[in-house]
Amino acid sequence: MIIYKSPEEIKMMKKSGQLVGLILQELKDMIVPGLRTLDLDKYAEARTKELGARPAFKNYRGYPASLCVSINEEIIHGLPSDRKLREGDIVSLDFGVVYEGFYGDAAITCPVGQISDKAQLLIDTAKGAFWAGVKFFKEGNYLSDISHAIQTYVEAQGFSVIRNFVGHGIGYSLHEDPQVPNYGLPGHGPRLKPGLVLAIEPMIASGGHEVEVLTDGWTAITRDRSLSAHYEHTIALTENGVKILTLVDETESKEWKKGVFNA
Ligand code: MF3
Ligand code: CO
Repeated sequence: MIIYKSPEEIKMMKKSGQLVGLILQELKDMIVPGLRTLDLDKYAEARTKELGARPAFKNYRGYPASLCVSINEEIIHGLPSDRKLREGDIVSLDFGVVYEGFYGDAAITCPVGQISDKAQLLIDTAKGAFWAGVKFFKEGNYLSDISHAIQTYVEAQGFSVIRNFVGHGIGYSLHEDPQVPNYGLPGHGPRLKPGLVLAIEPMIASGGHEVEVLTDGWTAITRDRSLSAHYEHTIALTENGVKILTLVDETESKEWKKGVFNA
């Protein structure tokens, strides 16, 4: 069952979303070759508490950390550890908080130092795919119109969409209905209406879409070890249009309006 949110609830969710966006921005600024992924996790957890919130992922279904750090062929749920970032890596940071009972969830993929053109294109495509999906986040559209737009955008670049993991409704819990696949035919699923709040999160690979999970029980990687990128925001449909609750960098939505991410 989808829990539609009132304007007041969306206002509360914006607060938790902005904390997520702010902390992700700070984590991004910390990234340098040689940094331990555990240090990112420690920072995220301490900063969350300092801001009066609680990490959303810690202990969720037994997840042992506050942040997911997924490097290169790792898609999602990478566990923070003593591993150090290396020049040329791409690193996905997925983070969520609970603030006054409301969840926020977002992810970005960042370069570590100089990266290859192909890796940069993969990062840009994950972000562009998100914005391609947002274009269809409109009253009256079908949920799968978003999924289809994401898939079309990603495949046009010659990359593939991960199928084993999906976006989701969010609010009173991290995962609410509905599921939001990043692929599919348009015209299916519920009609979109104000009050719908989703975490839209394209996960893409430079090779095939098949996944494997490492023996740590969490880290999902591409079976062919090709690079993967992830981009996610918590977004709300309101009477006044779309609100990207976890977005702190407004230049990005201006770029979007100018069509910078158009395929
Ligand atoms: N953004 C991811 C999701 O929506 C993060 C979950 S990590 C977990 O599922 F550890 F909490 F599972
Ligand atoms: Co999510």
